[in-house]
Amino acid sequence: MSIKSLIRTIPDYPKKGIMFRDITTLFEDPYGLSEVIDSFAAEFQDKKIDMIAGIEARGFVIGPAVAVALGIGFVTIRKQGKLPAETVGVEYELEYGTDVIEIHKDAVKPGSRVLIMDDLIATGGTALAAIDLVEKIGAEVAGCAFIIDLPDLGGAQKIRDRGIEEFHLVEFEGD
Ligand code: PRP
Ligand code: MG
Repeated sequence: MSIKSLIRTIPDYPKKGIMFRDITTLFEDPYGLSEVIDSFAAEFQDKKIDMIAGIEARGFVIGPAVAVALGIGFVTIRKQGKLPAETVGVEYELEYGTDVIEIHKDAVKPGSRVLIMDDLIATGGTALAAIDLVEKIGAEVAGCAFIIDLPDLGGAQKIRDRGIEEFHLVEFEGD
């Protein structure tokens, strides 16, 4: 069983023409779940990562497990209005309109090396906003890691164009 084969595809969800890549089936499989976490941990164990930042919501599933594997802490990047202490925010483009993600100002020590994690990168709007957030609070983005890249949508390339390491486990082309 490969990680890719454990990801279920739902055609026409959430709307016609979209092939939705569903990672719930990957997480339900004990081999798949541990393989995902082990693969990320192996990739980043020697890269001097100080902290993992996970993007709400699905980045919260993988980020903490990888943080435990690396023996480091985990910080949440949340949708607007969810964090109780002082925050900084960044606005980003959605297919229709915009959204805002936020991080606590004191979440990481200035200069620390942060790995950003999410389940999937498509246009890159979300991940690039997360990069801006981490940099705004004075930390360094040591890399961005995803389970799935949709390369046709160009987001991973945008991250590489910023000189930041981009890592993913599987790709789906033609989306
Ligand atoms: C999905 C996915 C990524 C983002 C990728 O999240 O989990 O976070 O879209 O798209 P992009 O590269 O074009 O920005 P979504 O916004 O659907 O929210 P959720 O994770 O809270 O379900
Ligand atoms: Mg998401």
